[in-house]
Amino acid sequence: MVTKVGEVIADRLVERTSRGLATAVSTAVGDGSLADGTRLPPIRLLASDLALSPSTVSAAWRTLAAARVLRSDGRRGTVVTAHATPGPVRYRRALEHSSSFNLDLSTGMPDPDLLPDLGEALSTLHRGGVSGSYLDDPIVPGLLEALSRDWPYDTSEFMIVDGAMDALDQVSAHLLRVGDTVVVENPSFPPLLDLLDALGVRHVGIDVDEEGMMPSPFAEALTRHPRAVFLQPRAHNPTGVSMSVARAHALARLAATHSVVVIEDDSAGSVAVADPVSLGRWIPSRTVHVRSFSKSYGPDLRLAALSGPHEIVDALRERRLLGQGWTSRLLQGVLVELLTQPSTRRHVARARATYAARRRALRAALEREGVSTMGDDGLNIWLPVHDETSALIALASHGIGAAAGSPFSTRSESASHIRVTAGLVTRDVATVAHQLADAAMIRPYAGPR
Ligand SMILES: Cc1ncc(COP(=O)(O)O)c(C=O)c1O
Repeated sequence: MVTKVGEVIADRLVERTSRGLATAVSTAVGDGSLADGTRLPPIRLLASDLALSPSTVSAAWRTLAAARVLRSDGRRGTVVTAHATPGPVRYRRALEHSSSFNLDLSTGMPDPDLLPDLGEALSTLHRGGVSGSYLDDPIVPGLLEALSRDWPYDTSEFMIVDGAMDALDQVSAHLLRVGDTVVVENPSFPPLLDLLDALGVRHVGIDVDEEGMMPSPFAEALTRHPRAVFLQPRAHNPTGVSMSVARAHALARLAATHSVVVIEDDSAGSVAVADPVSLGRWIPSRTVHVRSFSKSYGPDLRLAALSGPHEIVDALRERRLLGQGWTSRLLQGVLVELLTQPSTRRHVARARATYAARRRALRAALEREGVSTMGDDGLNIWLPVHDETSALIALASHGIGAAAGSPFSTRSESASHIRVTAGLVTRDVATVAHQLADAAMIRPYAGPR
């Protein structure tokens, strides 16, 4: 062994693949054997030291760079960045803007005026109904029954967590390891891509059409042995596509032939127009289904429910007992009230209809302006533009905010859309559509000729 670093890595190298090498390096960084700032030998030298091909080392370095375990430091080469904290990089990029807007359509948030009043639900909580113990059941009585009423498949394995992102975080941490490959939709939700990057997990993006993820490229992606596939079954953010039952069945048939776990993020929940849908109907032993209550009842409730195969849900429950333990039963009690009170159910039904009407109106007005968009559900419209930056600047000059589209894309070259939260357009639809269409048409500045 020529290099000291090679020795350290060789001691931890179990699997002689790029994934195995990435795992060995991250283990060495984790146990302190490769300290922050350590300069790594050139790829060829290390490859020969470890008797691996240079392309295997390069692939591992790319994985570790995405996970911010390594970074290229110009002439100094590649260095360890052990203490770099991975953060929501794409998410910030999608929402970053410098001024405040008259009409901020960048957020993807529910309209506060359409969220139910929590007062009534809170007033029904009384001392006797609030747990004072660490030992009670982590799910409050009545919640499972309320969830089961419209859960998209038969299951009794539920867990309550602190929002859909908490669910994705916990499930990913349990299932995925550095160097794993997963399949995601393209476009995809930026915080999910940030999370995968932080875990050092590679993602393969598969395009979405009007029925959901496209089956043929999914079948091809399965040949790369992904550990998981992430889907948004309803009101896909950003496109607004809800998966058809036929598409869900087709994807389930394909997934069933490989050992891949399906992780579904139903983030719109009850404000989605489409009925609940899940691959769990066909492959329950391989499906984790998450439903958020943020869009329907308020992001600050911080609640989501998940179901999944016993071995996964049980492992998550056990792991959680080492940390937070459970999700506030006080909030769960509020959720039971919200899910069962007839007045709140009517309120959410009205919100669902209102979002659908706003989205339809903006889509139709855009169509009249010559701009076609996809999807029929949820809060957002995925607006095709010639140039993302020019479109955002043009809209900002009219006091309108929209989200940059490139952080949603799994392909680095794409800047061909912006996301517009149609659910927040309450008036002047024709004017807003006109300004969006104008912004969409602007070509990138080609520089002086
Ligand atoms: C696709 C998707 N997943 C997850 C979330 C976050 O959900 P929660 O607030 O339940 O964490 C959102 C919120 O916009 C979302 O659009």
